[in-house]
Amino acid sequence: MSAINSVTDLSIEDGIAVLTLNSPPVNALSAAVRDGLADGFRSAIADPAVNAIVLVCEGKTFIAGADISEFGKKPSGASLYDVQDIIENCAKPTIAAIHGTALGGGLEVALTCHFRVGVPSARCGLPEVNIGLLPGAGGTQRLPRIAGAAKALEMVTTGQHVPAKACLEMGLIDEIVPEGNLRAGAVSFAKKVLAEKRPLTKVRDSDAKVEAARGHPEIFADYRKANAKKFRGFLAPEYNIRCIEAAVNLPFAEGLKEERRLFLELMNGSQSAAQRYVFFAERQVWKMPDIPDDTPTIPVAKVGIIGAGTMGGGIAMNFANAGIPVTIVETAKDALDRGLSVIHRNYENTAKRGRLTMDEVEKRTALITGSLTLEDLKDCDLVIEAVFENMDVKKEVFAKLDAIVKQGAVLATNTSALNIDEIATATKRPEAVIGLHFFSPANVMRLLEVVRADKTSKTVIATSMQIARRIGKIAALVGVCPGFVGNRILAQRQREAQKLVLEGAMPWDVDRVLYEFGFPMGPFAMSDLAGLDIGWTKEKSKGETLRDMLCELDRRGQKNGKGFYDYDENRNAKPSPVTEKVIEEFRAKRGINARKISDEEILERCIYPMINEGAKILEEKKAIRASDIDIVWINGYGWPVYRGGPMFYGDLIGLARVLAKMREWQSQMGDVFKPSTLLESLVAEGKGFKDLK
Ligand SMILES: NC(=O)c1ccc[n+]([C@@H]2O[C@H](COP(=O)([O-])OP(=O)(O)OC[C@H]3O[C@@H](n4cnc5c(N)ncnc54)[C@H](O)[C@@H]3O)[C@@H](O)[C@H]2O)c1
Repeated sequence: MSAINSVTDLSIEDGIAVLTLNSPPVNALSAAVRDGLADGFRSAIADPAVNAIVLVCEGKTFIAGADISEFGKKPSGASLYDVQDIIENCAKPTIAAIHGTALGGGLEVALTCHFRVGVPSARCGLPEVNIGLLPGAGGTQRLPRIAGAAKALEMVTTGQHVPAKACLEMGLIDEIVPEGNLRAGAVSFAKKVLAEKRPLTKVRDSDAKVEAARGHPEIFADYRKANAKKFRGFLAPEYNIRCIEAAVNLPFAEGLKEERRLFLELMNGSQSAAQRYVFFAERQVWKMPDIPDDTPTIPVAKVGIIGAGTMGGGIAMNFANAGIPVTIVETAKDALDRGLSVIHRNYENTAKRGRLTMDEVEKRTALITGSLTLEDLKDCDLVIEAVFENMDVKKEVFAKLDAIVKQGAVLATNTSALNIDEIATATKRPEAVIGLHFFSPANVMRLLEVVRADKTSKTVIATSMQIARRIGKIAALVGVCPGFVGNRILAQRQREAQKLVLEGAMPWDVDRVLYEFGFPMGPFAMSDLAGLDIGWTKEKSKGETLRDMLCELDRRGQKNGKGFYDYDENRNAKPSPVTEKVIEEFRAKRGINARKISDEEILERCIYPMINEGAKILEEKKAIRASDIDIVWINGYGWPVYRGGPMFYGDLIGLARVLAKMREWQSQMGDVFKPSTLLESLVAEGKGFKDLK
């Protein structure tokens, strides 16, 4: 065995050269790896003793992609195209030996080999779409030539990792070799290729599968239509589709040029920048400067939940799904039965949709036990309270928990807005108290705000973050303040949306602008979905707000077919003339002259105050970093990933512009628009949130 460079070795056995990459953790295509590949192949090609060349990787995976930390830097070393040319034009058979995952650039390298073998657990994928890109090293041109247009479309637009067996079926892999015996399996495959004198297929020259799709534009039209909702607003899926179209309709070299052109456009655009930022932000969010990775944690083997309402039930499912036993406590049998039956129904529906086996359903429901007595929680390691949102009720529950639950357990509250420092005073162990703010539906939404109170111990924080990961959430550590991070920022948007309607916009104008920005729905459609009458009663209604007036007219939202909108039997929304009239009367009563409000103003008025509030949150140290706020908004509130979150978006449009607008509105409409000191100082220094350390 001889070293080619720091990450590549070459050895020759029986006329077969084995080029081994070893660049932990994932053999990403860094400059050193590309150089090693180029020099390794050149050296094997030049060696007359070599008849075939196998490329294999050390460690847990084949080349798992580009080295994304090199993005945006000056290129150095051999280019990926050089490497691919050398491999593809080699006169000796080249074989990629795949284990772990061959992803992105890794698969694109494998696609330039004449043959590919893999172990049964290997998977292949082109996941660039997930960071707003497309495979820019021929992946979109070679994959359809090997797997056909339909399969290629699916792979490039979903980024899915396809298991070896499916790869074999579509022709992406030529042979599956025994698990744990990849190198030997690949060498004997190479010998077989030589013995059988198999022709050396260059994927680029294999046109049969793309020719089969030529003249069938409906393949693409149908695919676009079927995925319209999922891809809405995103550029990358559409550009990936266009590349496959190019592969079908153009000669290879021209298709490659088109792929390059579209790749560069994505790479230089703001969507991919946003998606790459989010990719890193999702990893950063787990890092807490004052809580080192080696902070001791409490092993969580049993969880207690108080309240089997909307939230309690969903929260319980998270733990059962992760195999952790849960006990749910309610005050009365009927409430408990109702809560448990909702859980069962949820599981059964998932099973009906084929996403769970009945066996799994049984296993999970068996992990959930109902109870009417708090004493049953005494040996829990973590208790989460999800009772009514009322300080007195919560304090009473925490005082009882303090007396019952073993020392050393985590005592968490799912409150949305109450002061957790105050809740903690009901116990003699405030260090054990923390907020675990789940989002509704709690078994579906990925976000968890972990709310640290004044006295919460580091162990309790570290345990909470760890358990969040275990149940598949993405958690952001935030501080106690009204609404915490997510709802505090939401309140800004809600207030402005309401005001815009008083000033002259219609609810559907506001909703349309925010929908077009990329939110799944606007605030008024959202209110209709949630129910306009949440927290409203006829007796207490003062008829003072728009909502009061609509509820008094029995417009309660989607559930009774009328709210801000009118709904047909399929729940399709239409602007309501009744609502319009109510709004006009409402304005008239207050002497407001409606004015025409532009889409641009709607967007700015809804979004800029959110950015300003985010800055205040940072200034008050209620979030660790700007990107954590973005993670909250992307995972909890439907902020479009391709716009990176409110803070990223603020940097993108320029904080100076946000500040100027806040000042202008402050002078016209008062101090709710008061700019944050942090926003002012960043603008003064010509910096953005991205520059904060
Ligand atoms: N619904 C949401 O969207 C949402 C989102 C995030 C957080 N939250 C918070 O979660 C908590 C629960 O909200 P929800 O929507 O599930 O309310 P809910 O009214 O649906 O459920 C509350 C349940 O708690 C039970 N309960 C009340 N007092 C109890 C006690 N002393 N012991 C045992 N059970 C008791 C009630 O019987 C009821 O079943 C609130 O603090 C709320 O602010 C709600």
